[in-house]
Amino acid sequence: MIELILPAEAAAEEAFSDPPGVTLFPEEEAVIARAVDKRRREFTTARACARAALARLGFPPVPIVPGLRGAPQWPAGVVGSLTHCAGYRACAVARDQDLRTIGLDAEPHGKLPGGVLAAVASPGERERLTALAAAQPGTHWDRVLFSAKESVYKAWFPLARRWLGFEDVSVTIDPATGTFTARLLVEGPRLDAVILTGFTGRWLVAGGLIITAITVPA
Ligand SMILES: CC(C)(COP(=O)(O)OP(=O)(O)OC[C@H]1O[C@@H](n2cnc3c(N)ncnc32)[C@H](O)[C@@H]1OP(=O)(O)O)[C@@H](O)C(=O)NCCC(=O)NCCS
Repeated sequence: MIELILPAEAAAEEAFSDPPGVTLFPEEEAVIARAVDKRRREFTTARACARAALARLGFPPVPIVPGLRGAPQWPAGVVGSLTHCAGYRACAVARDQDLRTIGLDAEPHGKLPGGVLAAVASPGERERLTALAAAQPGTHWDRVLFSAKESVYKAWFPLARRWLGFEDVSVTIDPATGTFTARLLVEGPRLDAVILTGFTGRWLVAGGLIITAITVPA
């Protein structure tokens, strides 16, 4: 279902369970050598998704290990993003001549744990969530906002290579179009002489999951 919120330039793969028999490269094994089973399973299936997505772009299997601040290191000429949550793992990649960056996030479609919303949403964002909940009470808008911000961070980081806090971005969700905008409240990096001021993304609620995706055209 992830392809529903990605442009044609992106190659994606998703999994709803952990298939047996996925082999990791030694560099990947080293990353999770001491990880608990849950982490090992999500890491491994995400690598299977990454290799399948990369294969669609014509790339051979390669190790995908975390680099600076956890950002995945892709083969030269590739941008991409990984996500995993209970019951879901996904990867989307693209050639960097097609897309500048990708940010992907998946969350269970449920209310955020107590106290989290206050930490991740501004008073203005919370007001907009209240209006969304009144109009469409079946959707956990607080979680959609959280997921959108996680996607923002993953799209932002490869471009800026620095931290971005939840308070540094203002997200507005459009319930009619399945899109959202993320306005940067801090100065963004320059992309070809133009300063990045924000992102637009798409969101999807289906099968008990919330999935958000951001792509920036090259
Ligand atoms: C890094 C972070 C975004 C991951 O999100 P998450 O919902 O916890 O976990 P997900 O399963 O969806 O994503 C995990 C994947 O994110 C990717 N990731 C981790 N750090 C990253 C970074 N700095 N840049 C891009 N991608 C990153 C990795 O591929 C990771 O998978 P892996 O460990 O198997 O390689 C989150 O833990 C975090 O640190 N958030 C704080 C920063 C933030 O969100 N700011 C809001 C800005 S509006």
